[in-house]
Amino acid sequence: MEVSDGKNHGLMSHRGFMLIKGIHDPDEVDMIRNLEIKESDVLVVTYPKSGTIWMQQILLLLEAKGDLTAINKHSTFSNGELVPWIEVKGYIEAFIKAQPPRMRVSHLPFSLLPSALSQKKGKVIYVARNPKDVLVSYFHFHKVANMLETPTDFDNFFEKFMRGDVFGSSWFEHIKMWYLHKDDLNMLFLTYEEMIKDLHSAVERIALFLGSEVTDEQLADVVKHSTFNNMKKIPQANYERVPSHLLSHQKGMFMRKGTIGDWKNHFTVAQNERFDDTFRREMEGIPLDFIWDIKDIV
Ligand code: PPS
Repeated sequence: MEVSDGKNHGLMSHRGFMLIKGIHDPDEVDMIRNLEIKESDVLVVTYPKSGTIWMQQILLLLEAKGDLTAINKHSTFSNGELVPWIEVKGYIEAFIKAQPPRMRVSHLPFSLLPSALSQKKGKVIYVARNPKDVLVSYFHFHKVANMLETPTDFDNFFEKFMRGDVFGSSWFEHIKMWYLHKDDLNMLFLTYEEMIKDLHSAVERIALFLGSEVTDEQLADVVKHSTFNNMKKIPQANYERVPSHLLSHQKGMFMRKGTIGDWKNHFTVAQNERFDDTFRREMEGIPLDFIWDIKDIV
């Protein structure tokens, strides 16, 4: 998620999708649909809180062949300057002019991203995360991010998420649209949980998909510098240097827990049952299994 001038902007619905006032401009978002796409373009798509900054780190490191010092010297605040959100106000021009490979991240739905992607131009990496952990991570992020409304309490935020009354709208709609179009696109579909389970294999798959020419040793370096514990120590990777008027760092860390199953510490039994019902109904016919507990990855 990108930050702009740090005001508490509120949301606006655009073509049925929730954007953030002041951060996004609906006219510019509409321009994205007709952008020309090059074969070398790489777009990481996520619902918020699903592993976006993790992917920024991996893409940058693959480009730098695992050399952390090479990526650290190019940015003042965060990796978000080097692999920016395509949809943030004022960012399209830079995308058009950027040298290849143009690497971007996005939280937009399928219907708003460049239609050229459907002609299998460019490469898309979609990262999905189990939605209970997404909800919890998003709840905590709302307390830290000054451009989002601070939740009154967890129960209130739970209701908002279930209604899709958050930036990104409904998690269910987001994943369904992207998943159902995955064969129309040049797409690698990954889950946050498989990255937690075996980061080395996930990075190998990403490198293969992107055609990155890295040695085994360089690949091992990419993995090493993109683990949760190591990213936490790198101010640029963990968004620590993003100015405090944008992210209230004293209220929480961007790199918070980085695990599977923290929802168990937040959901009531009733909320969990309701979530499961909604999940079953919404995801009917979508052959996606999620890992809901860290104990299930051994
Ligand atoms: S955002 O604001 O939408 O861009 O957030 P996003 O980067 O998509 O998601 C933030 C969550 O991803 C976790 N994260 C990681 N987990 C494991 N390993 C690594 N390396 C890693 N990097 C980021 C981050 O901690 C947030 O999850 P929570 O559950 O809040 O800890």
